[in-house]
Amino acid sequence: MASPARYAVIGNPIAHSKSPEIHAWFAQQTGQQISYERLLAPLDGFEATVRAFIAAGGCGANVTVPFKLEAHALADQLSDRARAAGAVNTLTFTNGRILGDNTDGAGLVTDIRVNAGVTIRARRVLLLGAGGAARGVLLPLLAEQPAALVIANRSAERAHALVAAFRAGAQGCDLRACGYGELPVQGQFDLVINATSASLDAALPPIAAGCFAEHAFAYDMMYGREPTIFLRFAAQCGAQVRDGLGMLIEQAAESFRLWRGVQPPTAALFQLLRR
Ligand code: ATR
Repeated sequence: MASPARYAVIGNPIAHSKSPEIHAWFAQQTGQQISYERLLAPLDGFEATVRAFIAAGGCGANVTVPFKLEAHALADQLSDRARAAGAVNTLTFTNGRILGDNTDGAGLVTDIRVNAGVTIRARRVLLLGAGGAARGVLLPLLAEQPAALVIANRSAERAHALVAAFRAGAQGCDLRACGYGELPVQGQFDLVINATSASLDAALPPIAAGCFAEHAFAYDMMYGREPTIFLRFAAQCGAQVRDGLGMLIEQAAESFRLWRGVQPPTAALFQLLRR
């Protein structure tokens, strides 16, 4: 029997990564013969780790913190969404070439639209944060054609720079940037997405309760055992809330689909990973 196709997730640190569990489950569900391992790359050794994995027969890799920008630079060819994101989370090794893609935004959109059943099209969206996580999801979010998308950030200049970079892809969406202080107190956003890293420090981006429209939906791209402070605040404001576990699952599903050409099921994975 042929040996299974080899995949890996590369990061530093990497021990906490759930990706091996997720991809093993996808492979089992779809009958694909793959192996998937964790690779700890030294902070100054990302490229060497990738090249050694290719030499050892690796077919593809997910890339996580802090190497997504290096993966973008290393790829011989980029998808449109990876180019727009300026970061790569999925590498495919084929015919001596390294293809770079970014499935984070697709993962977010699928989790909101399909799993949560919330429409983005024609809605008013507030995106909190203007760092790598925000940039990584902007193109797929804009492709959903929201009526308006406001990027709010502590450093307003960073938000303005993102708007300038993505203006061309806005297609009729009212795309704007501001600092938190400039957000209208009665902003009335239908969707509020937290793409800041504030939850890591148990901090709340300084938004007013009035940001949430009636029946608003709040999404935190982070997830943990307990709801983040942002989700607790949003729930107090009456919003429907969802954490980023589904984004993690769906970005992995999109990588699996790219590599294997089959769409894995995801629904049953939520309960398994929540345990
Ligand atoms: P990532 O790749 O996770 O996006 P990043 O590029 O360092 O990391 O960006 C972090 C984001 O979280 C930024 O938008 C940052 O705001 P600034 O650009 O103004 O620094 C935001 N952020 C981090 N801590 C925050 C906090 N306590 N409140 C509000 N925003 C915060």
